[in-house]
Amino acid sequence: MILITGASKGVGHFLYKELKKNGFDVIGTYNSTIEKEVETDPNYFKVDISNYNSVENWLSAIQVKLNDIVLINCAGISYNSFAHKSDICEWKNVIDVNVTGTFNVIRNILPLMREQNYGRIINFGSVVCQLPTPGISAYAASKAALNGLTKVLAVENASKGITVNSINLGYVSVGMGVEQVPLVYQEKMKNQIPAGRFCEPIEIYNTIIYLINTEYVNGSILDINGGIV
Ligand SMILES: NC(=O)c1ccc[n+]([C@@H]2O[C@H](COP(=O)([O-])OP(=O)(O)OC[C@H]3O[C@@H](n4cnc5c(N)ncnc54)[C@H](OP(=O)(O)O)[C@@H]3O)[C@@H](O)[C@H]2O)c1
Repeated sequence: MILITGASKGVGHFLYKELKKNGFDVIGTYNSTIEKEVETDPNYFKVDISNYNSVENWLSAIQVKLNDIVLINCAGISYNSFAHKSDICEWKNVIDVNVTGTFNVIRNILPLMREQNYGRIINFGSVVCQLPTPGISAYAASKAALNGLTKVLAVENASKGITVNSINLGYVSVGMGVEQVPLVYQEKMKNQIPAGRFCEPIEIYNTIIYLINTEYVNGSILDINGGIV
């Protein structure tokens, strides 16, 4: 069973649809974006990952279906503001969702993975940790924290058939990275990417299949960024 948080938009939405299309059993979550799946799809749940009870209730509702679990932690937010002007509540919210929220899900699912001697956990990082960008201190801090979390969880759980990796994205054609950026700036962004284009979500899908199938890749931060170094 594949669990995807943040399946209502961007990368998570693409992965949810593509995995289903390819015959995988998938459960997706949304938080505030209401899609038609809400009415028609029994495997689509409202969960606020920053709320521990919300995560706990979701996982106890689906526990009966959970075997050979692959957890794809796609849910995330960003907040744009120079650090010295930032609203501390907005700043903290990014950490609450991206770091504590991701951990809330992992914390709830790991005991079951360990019991079953199998698990795949895939987190999402960002190129902004390598390429500092003004205005996103909270987001960059949250993604750096996830890199550390990924590596510690990998060593804690490797003996149980569980791998924990992070896909470190550059700029993707869907989702929070470029969808909001005016076309003229999108062209400028592409010029800074050695590949000369944005990442297509199918390239993330292919990497996820690789991580599912390859137990010896563990604790890795995989750059998918078109050659940005
Ligand atoms: N797209 C890129 O270029 C890019 C680049 C680098 C890294 N990433 C990372 O890749 C992942 C996916 O990004 P994306 O571009 O697909 O983002 P996106 O389009 O903004 O979608 C974010 C998803 O997270 C969910 N979410 C937000 N707050 C939540 C909460 N409190 N509880 C549960 N779900 C919540 C949203 O659900 P609702 O809309 O229902 O609230 C939505 O489904 C993120 O971790 C992001 O940081 C993306």
